[in-house]
Amino acid sequence: MASSLTYESQKLGTWYFTVAAILFGAQLLFGLLAAIQFLYPSFLFEILDFSITRIVHINALVVWLLYAMIGSVYFIMPDETGIETVGVGIAKLLFGVLTLAVTIVVVVYIFVQTGPADEMTLYFITQGREYIEAPLWADLGIVVVALGFVANVWLTCVKGERTGIMTVMMADVLALAGIYLAGIFYTDNISMDQYWWWWVIHLWVEATWEVFVACLAGYGLIKVLGASRQIVEMWLWIEVAMLFGSGILGIGHHYFWIGTPEYWWEIGALFSALEPVPLIGMFVHVLYDWGKEAGHAAAEGKKHEISNTPAFSWFVVNTFGNFIGAGIWGFMHTLPQINLYTHGTQWPAAHGHLAFYGAYATILIGMFYMGVQRKNGIKYLRATFASKMGVFLTTFGVLGMTMALTASAYQQTIIERAQWGATWEGYFAAQESVWMIQGYGWRLAMGVVTFVGFLYLIKDLLTTSKDPRHVRD
Ligand code: HEM
Ligand code: HEM
Ligand SMILES: [Fe+2]
Repeated sequence: MASSLTYESQKLGTWYFTVAAILFGAQLLFGLLAAIQFLYPSFLFEILDFSITRIVHINALVVWLLYAMIGSVYFIMPDETGIETVGVGIAKLLFGVLTLAVTIVVVVYIFVQTGPADEMTLYFITQGREYIEAPLWADLGIVVVALGFVANVWLTCVKGERTGIMTVMMADVLALAGIYLAGIFYTDNISMDQYWWWWVIHLWVEATWEVFVACLAGYGLIKVLGASRQIVEMWLWIEVAMLFGSGILGIGHHYFWIGTPEYWWEIGALFSALEPVPLIGMFVHVLYDWGKEAGHAAAEGKKHEISNTPAFSWFVVNTFGNFIGAGIWGFMHTLPQINLYTHGTQWPAAHGHLAFYGAYATILIGMFYMGVQRKNGIKYLRATFASKMGVFLTTFGVLGMTMALTASAYQQTIIERAQWGATWEGYFAAQESVWMIQGYGWRLAMGVVTFVGFLYLIKDLLTTSKDPRHVRD
């Protein structure tokens, strides 16, 4: 079917969404392989070792989220500014360059895998920094693409109308791209390397990305529920101030045990403990606005119709997921007194899964649905059986994995840290405990559930436009 998108920028947005969805699938498949290797360590040994399946799993995660984020900006920009993106031709070219680079990096990860411990490996194979393992040549390429992207956003916003959402977005994409630079250069002092590496990881997920999704939530609420822009944007500004405030110094919770000065204990404890506050604000705000708008509509005798039910359901999971995964599961181990015992156990992995999924994957999948709706000229997009199964099974699966890992983490903390005092023997005693092994087993089972949910999601994204129940323009 011909596309109903009138702006080239929005077409480009849907290209980004497509590649993001493919990488999401790859992420899950490699996650399943890694989960099998936890139970059967000889599985694919010396063919695709755990180190490789894990790299692909978590790098694919970061890259697909970034793709979906860039796609979302190109998608919402014409709506917000009222004009076509400035330099959209170059933006399309950069999309091609980036996708080619990502493909080469992944092929090298899978087929070349490792290199000698020298400069060549850093330049061409991998830098071995968790989540952003890409070799230096790709890093430099990414910087060029990011500069082009930031230029697109700034030039378009300067020329067109500048809403509050886009003003925040302008500052945020600049910060988000700028922070990446801190993770590019390798230093052979591991403390220093980790120090800067956290600037990318922590200041992305707990500062710039949170602000980014707050912008998307604002846009989504306005489009899907018809929320008032004034209210949404007022909250957006409050959240920007709070998130940047707590999130930036909250980085201290990664500086507890890496050789940095001890004052980070207090700074990390205080500011990272405050981090859930804006998440609660966001949570209350979305539900409050929703109730208020529905109430207004009911008072006027109108039915309050949601214009994109599947997107809305993903936005709702996002609000809960962000608060629970980042806020609650993060808070559980953020005080240094507790982190002393939980650091390096399955606790961060449990939290990492629910937080990345709840705060980012969900809202970006909601944006995929916004893309499908607009591309097919649908005014009211209804939920289908597949879209409900998609959101339900994927979420249920990730929640299940989180619970399984939390149970493992609890056991590991008690045996390895409390009983054995963080010794080498303690590590193995914990890994061999029946509860840990059961936790790994449930993680795998729930991972399969997540993957089935993903298959429903993809089926729905590809076929929902044919459903006769949607209301068309
Ligand atoms: C959406 C936002 C968030 C995401 C995606 C996220 C994700 C992650 C991930 C993946 C890790 C593991 C990092 C590693 O590989 O070492 C981690 C660590 C951690 N997170 Fe979060 N997080 C978020 C928000 C938060 C918040 C709000 C808090 C505090 C309230 C928090 C507290 C922590 C702590 C304390 C650690 C370090 C655990 C350790 O190394 O001992 N996180 N986070
Ligand atoms: C099919 C479902 C999945 C399975 C079976 C799975 C499995 C795994 C495994 C085995 C690891 C390595 C853990 C370790 O080194 O101890 C891992 C790491 C990770 N996965 Fe998944 N995963 C799945 C889905 C997801 C999803 C949906 C997300 C987020 C959206 C995610 C985010 C992460 C993160 C952030 C890490 C690194 C955690 C850390 O280092 O603390 N995974 N996953
Ligand atoms: Fe953090």
